Amino acid sequence: MEWRTERPGVTTVTDVFPGLPKTSGQPRNPGANSTPNGHEQVVFCSDERSGLYAIIAIYSTALGPALGGTRFYPYESESAALADVLNLSRAMAYKNAMAGLDLGGGKAVIIGDPSRDKSEALLRAYGRFVQSLGGRYYTACDVGTYSEDMDIVARESRYVTGRTPAHGGAGDSSILTAYGVYQGMRAAADHTWGATSLSGRRVGVEGVGKVGHRLVGHLIEDGAEVVVCDVDERAIERLRALYPQVEVVDDQAALTASDIDVYAPCALGGALDDDTVARLRAKVVCGGANNQLAHAGVEKQLADRGILYAPDYVVNSGGVIQVSDEIEGFDMDRARSKASQIFDITRRIFTIAAEEDVPPAVAADRLAERRMSEVGRLRGIWLSN
Ligand SMILES: NC(=O)c1ccc[n+]([C@@H]2O[C@H](COP(=O)([O-])OP(=O)(O)OC[C@H]3O[C@@H](n4cnc5c(N)ncnc54)[C@H](O)[C@@H]3O)[C@@H](O)[C@H]2O)c1
Repeated sequence: MEWRTERPGVTTVTDVFPGLPKTSGQPRNPGANSTPNGHEQVVFCSDERSGLYAIIAIYSTALGPALGGTRFYPYESESAALADVLNLSRAMAYKNAMAGLDLGGGKAVIIGDPSRDKSEALLRAYGRFVQSLGGRYYTACDVGTYSEDMDIVARESRYVTGRTPAHGGAGDSSILTAYGVYQGMRAAADHTWGATSLSGRRVGVEGVGKVGHRLVGHLIEDGAEVVVCDVDERAIERLRALYPQVEVVDDQAALTASDIDVYAPCALGGALDDDTVARLRAKVVCGGANNQLAHAGVEKQLADRGILYAPDYVVNSGGVIQVSDEIEGFDMDRARSKASQIFDITRRIFTIAAEEDVPPAVAADRLAERRMSEVGRLRGIWLSN
């Protein structure tokens, strides 16, 4: 499961359904009325005929309509799905705020096995629920959903991004996700070694799927040495066909114990746990995966060991920058130029973290909360039509 984040402020099922055993979490939603548990709105969507069972969570619309992808996943239970969507929608609010977008945070999950349960009828039923929210929530791709699926959802709803280029969409968001991670890594290199190039540095990339393999491309072009691991042999073969010079190690433990300068988690969440931090030899952590910190306090452990952590939702915001550009009418040059700013934003976070003597993850949360609260207040001023 990917929903093991337990950072402060992370929502648990029990916050919404108090009868369930409590695990962790304190709500906070600086820009919105806090119900339930910091979320503005949580919608359960059921369509028996198509077999759709989905949950749409809107954490905040303080900065604008909530944008976040649709995860199609065979959750073990409804409560696991709910916990995941609440955590993910909150993270989207922070990501969109830090990316400087006029967008709030939301997310959706469809409960089921995408390889078995996905159908046109189900996706269209889902699209009708998205449409019913009247633009308060824009959807996009996530684990288990693809641009082609968004084309189908868009047949029932205007509030869809991440469609195929053939339908005016931004297509595969991993292009600018990887580009943004690379920009964040340049900022981290500058902060650590006083040079924005990764040339001559040894970078360990965990997971060489859509984001990871593109990140490897940027690194090699910049002159870095790259070492990778992936649980899927086909992903390694695809990468090796493109970049035969890349070194491959067995697994994440071997990668993080090896002599690397930068560790780039680009697989699933929770990569940074106590064991990984203890053995990590890298000076910088900067990767594309969501929810990299396995539990609260890991950000401090990293800081105590002198390892610079580039906050995940800051450096992986290139994808949301790419798909959100569709709302204006997609233009790759404009989206890429916005994603370039991840370099400056990451650098600013490192500076604030040093000035305020807090880990970068805390500095990023503070900045995001400030923007949500300040702009949220501004948007509270009623404008006549
Ligand atoms: N695609 C995007 O635009 C985007 C945007 C923001 C964040 N992310 C996050 O980036 C991460 C990667 O996304 P993606 O789109 O590249 O997914 P993907 O499924 O294409 O790639 C993930 C890769 O990680 C590998 N992997 C899984 N478990 C592993 C393990 N234990 N050790 C090593 N490798 C492992 C998989 O085999 C796969 O090749 C995810 O956490 C995702 O949520 C993606």
